[in-house]
Amino acid sequence: MTSREPILANLSFHDYQPPEADIAREVLAGLRREQPGLHPKFLYDAHGSRLFEGITRQPEYYPTATEEALLRAKAPELAERVPGDALLAEPGAGNCEKARLLLEHWQPRGYMPIEISRDELLWASRELARDFPHLAIHAVCADYTRPIYWPDETPPPRMVFFPGSTLGNFEPAERGPFLQRLRELAGDGGQLLLGADLHKDSAVLNAAYNDAAGYTAAFNLNMLDHLNQVLNAGFERDAFEHQAFYNEHARRVEMHLRCHRDQQLQINGETIKLSAGNSIHTENSYKFTRPELESLLEQAGFTVDTWWEDPNKAFSLCLANAA
Ligand code: AVI
Repeated sequence: MTSREPILANLSFHDYQPPEADIAREVLAGLRREQPGLHPKFLYDAHGSRLFEGITRQPEYYPTATEEALLRAKAPELAERVPGDALLAEPGAGNCEKARLLLEHWQPRGYMPIEISRDELLWASRELARDFPHLAIHAVCADYTRPIYWPDETPPPRMVFFPGSTLGNFEPAERGPFLQRLRELAGDGGQLLLGADLHKDSAVLNAAYNDAAGYTAAFNLNMLDHLNQVLNAGFERDAFEHQAFYNEHARRVEMHLRCHRDQQLQINGETIKLSAGNSIHTENSYKFTRPELESLLEQAGFTVDTWWEDPNKAFSLCLANAA
């Protein structure tokens, strides 16, 4: 079911949030796998989004500060390369903070943040609508990993903004189809601005996902609270511990929740058992090289326009045109 609600004069809300039964089915299927796993999107309820913001401020988690510095430095140049009539669309917009860095230099036809966490989306888009009263904001609450019919008022061309190296949270086999969907979202004459984390020393990566203040651990564990709240699943949070490590072979940081007390869960009337010693794989965060990203973009129907990276070659921003 979808609903449309005008909230402020320049802000409308489009609700395509998946129904609870879909979530229960997906969680059940994930927990039944030989290596139990849950999709990282379940990390993001309102509290999870706050914890993620906390992560981005930790000194060990370099991606956000590095990307924001790049965006600040390159936004004026970027504004010259973006068609003025494009709509800015941002899948996984979160608190919309990075879009602000673009909006200070470029006035798009409108802004469409797409976010699965309804509370986060409502809060962030309201703040933005107040700060940019002349910007039409079409807030879409949706699981952007699934096909969506975009609101009629948001036709292409669109500049799709996909920062934060969220592409790294997709499995290799999912990346191509997902980038093709971003190509469709951009439309002919549209563009993609992609932020991606680059390969680096494993010590830096291990520290980034095990911050001393414990934000990443709390973020990971919050997935259990979130699923308890939505599904009444019965996870005992104190029976789990956060684990994150760089898997050199697969070139990804893995996050797990290791279980140290047997668990009996009830989801949709079905019982699932987890034994002490089992872990739930909650996230992969793949790291990229420039040739790898350029070839992924070209295969998905984009042509690379401009590539920027920071002086340490830790993080990249790539502007690509919908070919
Ligand atoms: C959102 N995503 C790109 C982050 C990452 O680095 O994979 C999520 C995150 N997980 C742990 N820390 C941050």
